[in-house]
Parts: sequence; structure tokens; C-alpha cells
Amino acid sequence: MSKNPISRRQFLQTTAVTTGALMTTRRIALDPARIPSSWEVPPSDRVRFGIIGVGMQGSGLLATAVSLPGVECVAASDLYDGRHALAKEIAGTKITATRRYKELLDDKEIDCIIAAIPDHWHKQVFVDAVSAGKDIYCEKPMSHSAADGIEMVNAAKNSGRITQIGSQRVSSVICGKARELLSQGIIGDLNLVEGSLGRNDPTGAWVYPVPPDLSTQTLDWDTWQGTVPKRPFDGKVFARWRCWKEYGTGVAGDLLVHLVSGMNYMLGWNEPPTKVTSIGGILRFNDGRNMPDVQATLYEYGKIPVYLRLNLGCETPEVYRFQGSKGILEVTEVTITHYPQTGEDSAPSYYAFSFPHDLREAYMKQWHEQHDPAPGKEPLTEGFNYKGDSWDDLRPHLWNFFQAVRTRKPVAEDVVFGHNAALACHMSNESYFRKSAVTWDAASGQIKS
Ligand SMILES: NC(=O)c1ccc[n+]([C@@H]2O[C@H](COP(=O)([O-])OP(=O)(O)OC[C@H]3O[C@@H](n4cnc5c(N)ncnc54)[C@H](O)[C@@H]3O)[C@@H](O)[C@H]2O)c1
Repeated sequence: MSKNPISRRQFLQTTAVTTGALMTTRRIALDPARIPSSWEVPPSDRVRFGIIGVGMQGSGLLATAVSLPGVECVAASDLYDGRHALAKEIAGTKITATRRYKELLDDKEIDCIIAAIPDHWHKQVFVDAVSAGKDIYCEKPMSHSAADGIEMVNAAKNSGRITQIGSQRVSSVICGKARELLSQGIIGDLNLVEGSLGRNDPTGAWVYPVPPDLSTQTLDWDTWQGTVPKRPFDGKVFARWRCWKEYGTGVAGDLLVHLVSGMNYMLGWNEPPTKVTSIGGILRFNDGRNMPDVQATLYEYGKIPVYLRLNLGCETPEVYRFQGSKGILEVTEVTITHYPQTGEDSAPSYYAFSFPHDLREAYMKQWHEQHDPAPGKEPLTEGFNYKGDSWDDLRPHLWNFFQAVRTRKPVAEDVVFGHNAALACHMSNESYFRKSAVTWDAASGQIKS
């Protein structure tokens, strides 16, 4: 008989299989967020909104907003005329449609704005809206740069308007339940967070079809480019702006911001990371873009390492794993699963196989005497799993905004929260482009290497 009859790997595999076999899992259904029906909202509480940007996201926001009780669209603004037609198809022909968003800001009939323009336009529309006295729901990532974010936070604070940022995960039932479980210490002391998301198709990598009638006749291309150095008309840039840093913020601003916002919400965090290192490249869609399609970012949030991975070149599920001294809380789009761990040895230490026979036997005997449960007192190890609809809960997020407009109560995702989440993304991009770790210098409002 070998001196060491069981290897470390065999030992761990045996223990894992045994633990898995013993563990039972309870499934608990989560109710969707409750939104009142139309008769519960009096006509006097009607909120009238205008929408700026009726593209891929704006059209979805518009359709959802007009389906909410006591909410009415008055006007839409877009630089592309095709989206005037689309807005009327969704909200009815009675709405007005214009290329000039400032007409909506001057309209006294409009209480608030939904803004779903490309990232390079967020700051200007946001600042103009709050300065004109309008409340605003502004899409994520809140800002196109750290400096833009600071300006937006100041404008919101100075104006006192209601401002909601559009990372709707903070209004999801799934994330809300995970937040409750984490705050109750379900995983003990948090010591690591990981998250990832992968896609593997052209649409997932923003290779969108250009609208067939798009031209300088149907689109105000000059205004669309904003303050970015002008280039000749290019329909691909209009449709696929996320690929270029001049207009978008890459996978960081498009997708990482959802992971960061969800993580911050679930953990009750509201601060920028202390240090960020990001690597990646254009590894799958080398189509002229200047933003990476693969990006892996390592954050330090205080003492906690956070590792978030985005990949447009291979599909993987979207998942968070919160790891702590009492196990793992795994959160996906529709489930929350708890994998409990005691954090204690469940068997005599395999190190004892390095003891000579008599010492080993004595150690084993003593270990069992001290640790084996009395018959009938064996602990039950039960994991559980919550099942919900989806975490991308646009409806409750919009509803939360319109309720705040009515009641002047705080929103789910204010400008400071949006700024801190966006900063994490800008730091990730800065680290990627600078090829070095970066930190946030709050005093100067700058990302430093
Ligand atoms: N929360 C989410 O899940 C989610 C999902 C997708 C997109 N988004 C965000 O929504 C925003 C819009 O993205 P999209 O995919 O809908 O883009 P898009 O290109 O499909 O639509 C943007 C529209 O804004 C219009 N526009 C641009 N500048 C304008 C201006 N100055 N005045 C009026 N209209 C203007 C464009 O003509 C275009 O029709 C982005 O910030 C994006 O990150 C959020």
C-alpha cells in the first residue's frame, strides 16, 4: 500500500462530489416589480415628456414609457428624419417631431426629457436640459469622459432637477434580492468579485445595418458629429458609432457599465475604483474600429479585487460571482444561486498523509473525535436559488423616474451613482490605451497613470 494513498486532487474531487451529492437546492420564484394600473394614477398626476434620440434604445424607451400609466409623450427630437416617422409610429401622430432638441427644452408643456443619443452627445443634452428646468432620464454610460461626468454632476446639483441614469439593472428585481442577501452577509466577508459577458455575432459587436435612406438630406450629419473633428458623411459611423472612441466608449461604456452599475448596486457601493488595469485588443472584428472588442479589467475597490471580462469574440453567459468566507452568490440574468461554504475543514487535513503511520492514525482519531457531529446532529447543507424574469428591467426603471418627477423623491440611479459607474469604464479605457494601471485623482478630477 502506498504511503500516500490519496492525492490532493483526488481528495478535493471526492469532497466536492460528496458535498454536491448531499446538497439540495430550493427554488424560490421572485415576483416582478409592481407597477400600478392606469386607474390607480389620477389624471392630475399625468407626466408629459419629450424624447431626444429615437434610435435603437430610444425607440424601446419610448414604447415602454407610453405604455406606463399617467405618462404621455408630447414631442420627439432626432437628427435623422426616419426616426421622426418611427416616433410617430410608436407614440401616435399627435406628437411633434423636430431635428432641434432645444425646441423641446423651451416647451413649457413638457415636464421631463428622456435622452437616448450617442455617448458623445450626453453631456450637452443633459446640461442643456437641467439648465432649462427639465428633469431628465439620460442613458448610460452617463458620460463620454471623466471631465464630462464632473460637469454633469455639477449641473444636476446646481439645478436641483431630478436626474436618472439609464443602467436599468439597479431597478431589477434580481439585483434587488441579491443586494438584500449580500447586505445580510449571506457570503460572509466579501473577498473577490468576478463578472463576465461574451457575444459572438456581428450584431453583438455593433456591426449594425445602415438605414437604407440615410443621407445628408435625411440626416443633419454636421450636427450629429457634435464637437468631434468633422469627417465626410459616413452611414456606418452613424449606425456603428460605438466602435470609435470619438463617439462611443467601447465595450466598457456599452456593456461593462452595466456590470459595474449592477455590482455597485448589489454591494451598496457608490464610489470609483481606487486602481484599474485593463488589457485587451481588437481580436475578432478588425473592421476599422479603434475600440477593443475584447477587454479584461482588474479593479481594486478599496481592498476588494474585482475582475470583469467583456468579449465580443466568444459568447459566454452574463454572470457575477460574489465570493466570500461563507460561499458564493452567483447572479445571472434570471437567477440568484447561493453555494454555501462553511469555511472550515470538512475532513482531516490531507497534509497528515505526510506523517508517519502512528502519528497519522493518532491525528485522524483525534480529528474525528473533535469534529464529527453527534449522531442525529449532522448539519444540513442546503443551497437555494431565486428565479426571476430578467435583470434588464427597463419598465420599473422608467417608472421610478416618472414617479420621482411626480413626487420629487430620490431616483434609483442618480447622477453621482451614474458618474461613479461611468468613471470605472473611463478608467478601464484609459488603462487599455495607456498600457498602464490608472488611479482616480478626485482632487484634480483626473485619471492618473
Ligand atoms: N440601457 C441600455 O440597456 C442601453 C441599450 C442600448 C443603448 N443604450 C444607450 O442609449 C444611447 C443611444 O444608443 P442607441 O443604440 O439608441 O443609438 P442610435 O444611434 O441607434 O440612436 C441615437 C439617435 O440619436 C440621434 N441623435 C444624435 N445626436 C442628436 C442630437 N443632438 N439631437 C437629436 N437627436 C440626436 C441620432 O440621430 C440617432 O437616431 C447610448 O448612450 C447607448 O449607450 C442603452
